[in-house]
Amino acid sequence: MRTPARRSRRTAAVLAASTALLLGLAVAPAADAASRHQHRAATLDDLARQHGRYFGAAVDNPELSDTAYADLLGKEFGATTPGNGMKWYATEPQRGVFDFTAGDEIVNYAKDKGLKVRGHTLLWHSQLPSWLTSGTWTADELRSILKNHITNVVTHYKGKVFAWDVANEIMNEDGTYRENIFYKTIGPSYIADALRWAHAADPKVKLYLNDYNVEGTGAKSDAYYTLIKQLKADHVPIDGFGMQAHLALQYGFPYQMQQNIQRFADLGVDVAITELDIRMSLPSDATKLAQQADWYGQVTSDCLAVRRCVGITLWGYSDRHSWIPSVFPGEGAALPWDENLAHKPAYDAIRNALTAVGS
Ligand code: G3I
Repeated sequence: MRTPARRSRRTAAVLAASTALLLGLAVAPAADAASRHQHRAATLDDLARQHGRYFGAAVDNPELSDTAYADLLGKEFGATTPGNGMKWYATEPQRGVFDFTAGDEIVNYAKDKGLKVRGHTLLWHSQLPSWLTSGTWTADELRSILKNHITNVVTHYKGKVFAWDVANEIMNEDGTYRENIFYKTIGPSYIADALRWAHAADPKVKLYLNDYNVEGTGAKSDAYYTLIKQLKADHVPIDGFGMQAHLALQYGFPYQMQQNIQRFADLGVDVAITELDIRMSLPSDATKLAQQADWYGQVTSDCLAVRRCVGITLWGYSDRHSWIPSVFPGEGAALPWDENLAHKPAYDAIRNALTAVGS
């Protein structure tokens, strides 16, 4: 997927960054300044790759026509996730009629830029097509609809995405199952079946459960811990747990995030930070931006501290394009680049965490 030119460019940048890091520890000031210059040339993804991880950013289809934005995303990051283009309403707008236009557009963009793609998402309670939500289905009918959807979408993207968020946001805050259409009609067995159908369609793709408010320990992440442990015991194909990490300064940093990542890794699954952003009440100021930077650094360090935390994806990368202001009026400024695509303190904090000695 990565073009040879991009690979060698990245390899050179990674080597330069490594050399800069080594020199920075041991040589005279003049060489140190030169090495710092080389160091700045490495992208976030280059630095993450030194740890065997990726650094990605989601993109929504309309953003691809913002050329400056799409170009910078393609240079700085090593992975992307379609913000909407692979969701059910987009991929199966009518029953049995599949439309891969939006998802393919992102896959083609990613291929051109040398990015790998996380698939998002095969089932969710939100953004379902109206034919599905307005219908009345027996358990057998809905199981068959779900199987057909998963089989078609996973088959279409076989070899083009490296991971799938198979089931998105299936738990409530108190750790009970969310009463989505699948749970209400089929019962909790839809989760294991969805994983099995996805695996049958593409045995190599990594299969994830994905949710928000699961970055720290608590009832919701406990519920996933119990579920994944059971799925593993039942030999259901589950490869990873996605922590969305839509954080907000006013709610505090997730409790025991590193320990929480570690306990999922200890179950034998990968963990990925899948939708990271850190919002604040507007207007932003230097104090809030400094706290945000500290949190971005902390999330990065917590992921790097656990071998099986495989990568970090930002949900967009610049305040120019973000889902937050329309959903949380008065909040925003959540990403490491500002509206003009300039770095915010958060960007340097991520770099520092990625280059910290011993991380
Ligand atoms: O497609 C229609 C378009 O026809 C219409 O003109 C326009 C007018 O508002 O709306 C368009 O739909 C929007 C859709 O994104 C596609 O752009 C919806 O209004 C809008 O609500 C929807 O928002 C998406 C949101 O999921 C839906 O819940 C965001 O872009 C997307 O970033 C967000 O992503 C989710 C993840 O999938 C799961 N985790 C949480 C995350 C943030 O909410």
